[in-house]
Amino acid sequence: MKRILNVVGARPNFMKIAPIQREMAKYPDEITPMLVHTGQHYDERMSKFFFEDLQLPQPDIYLGVGSGSHAAQTAKIMVDFEKVCLEHKPDMVLVVGDVNSTVACSLVAAKLWIPVIHVEAGLRSNDRKMPEEINRIVTDSLSDYLFVTEKSGKENLLRDGVDPSKIHFVGNVMIDSLAYFMEKSDQSPILNHLELEKENYVLVTLHRPSNVDDPENFIKIITAFEKIPNNVPIVFPIHPRTKKNIEKFGLEDRVKALSNLKLLEPVGYLDFQQLTKNCKFVMTDSGGIQEETTYLGIPCITLRENTERPITAEVGTNEIVGTDLDKILPLLDKLFAGEWKESLIPELWDGKAAERIVEVLRKA
Ligand code: UD1
Ligand code: UDP
Repeated sequence: MKRILNVVGARPNFMKIAPIQREMAKYPDEITPMLVHTGQHYDERMSKFFFEDLQLPQPDIYLGVGSGSHAAQTAKIMVDFEKVCLEHKPDMVLVVGDVNSTVACSLVAAKLWIPVIHVEAGLRSNDRKMPEEINRIVTDSLSDYLFVTEKSGKENLLRDGVDPSKIHFVGNVMIDSLAYFMEKSDQSPILNHLELEKENYVLVTLHRPSNVDDPENFIKIITAFEKIPNNVPIVFPIHPRTKKNIEKFGLEDRVKALSNLKLLEPVGYLDFQQLTKNCKFVMTDSGGIQEETTYLGIPCITLRENTERPITAEVGTNEIVGTDLDKILPLLDKLFAGEWKESLIPELWDGKAAERIVEVLRKA
């Protein structure tokens, strides 16, 4: 019997863990999963909503660490998670993605000689100014099982000298959730609630520090929104970091002046998928949404200078443009002319990544 601690902390972790938890639960004689929530995200709309929508069991352990500087948050998670490991003596610790909870728990486990499983390993933006890039590099270097979503992940790990026997190309657990909840998200009433017409609105998310902590870049993005025709609603579920910064930089008036903007609190998973599936296109700086739009065949303009998920631009619907208006505006023209590139669904994004992961872990 293997006891595995599955770690979640922030919004993009919940949809990645859900299929793994479900798959592990099929083998009660072999695996005992325990769900640990660090509490990095704690607002109802950044956490609780996802447990409901994704049918996740309540966490076995909740650390409640909350927000803080990178060092303070990472350290607090480490101190608390070390106690959890010492008490529960897991055989393995499984982390997903690239948030502070991911790196903090990997560090604790590795120093206690507990094997680390990293799901979504090997992604690299090659931009060390992104806090997530540091988290990815450190987590990968400490991991014993590295599960990758796309071929670049494997190439990056091999370049970093990771032993090939540790690397498993299994597909994408985020897509497992998207496929699993496809029908359920179709039942979401959000389009009616917001009085939206299918394919006649733009969906926006923004939360990268490089965009929303930097007033100059933030203003450039607002300028791009001003170029969207007035009769096309812009649906913007706003991340708490972004909301705070609109106030901090005094951008409220500029935002309010956008008559077609529908500014919302963050929405739950099923509502968000319904919004994504039916929009004209997405503008985002999210990591996961680049993947979801590629799977759904929805055009995605990524407001970042780089991506750690290059497959979404190579074969998918994604265009990486940063905040350069000279690049964004021609793409908007293209979209309103009804044009976009042809796209494919990346290899192994078939809803079965968690099955492949648990298969490897059962043999471990
Ligand atoms: C974090 C992740 C980022 C991920 C994003 C997903 C790190 C370094 N960053 O960024 O990779 O893409 O989550 O959404 O791990 N806040 C609230 N309520 C909450 C959570 C946060 O109000 O429930 C506010 C706090 O003011 C906090 C700020 O948002 O200081 C930022 O939260 P934090 O978790 O530090 O980083 P994110 O920007 O959310
Ligand atoms: N998401 C959501 N509601 C929102 C915004 C995003 O359910 O209001 C989902 C989105 O579909 C994806 C995940 O949250 O599954 C991505 O998380 P986020 O953009 O916060 O983080 P990142 O992927 O950039 O790390």
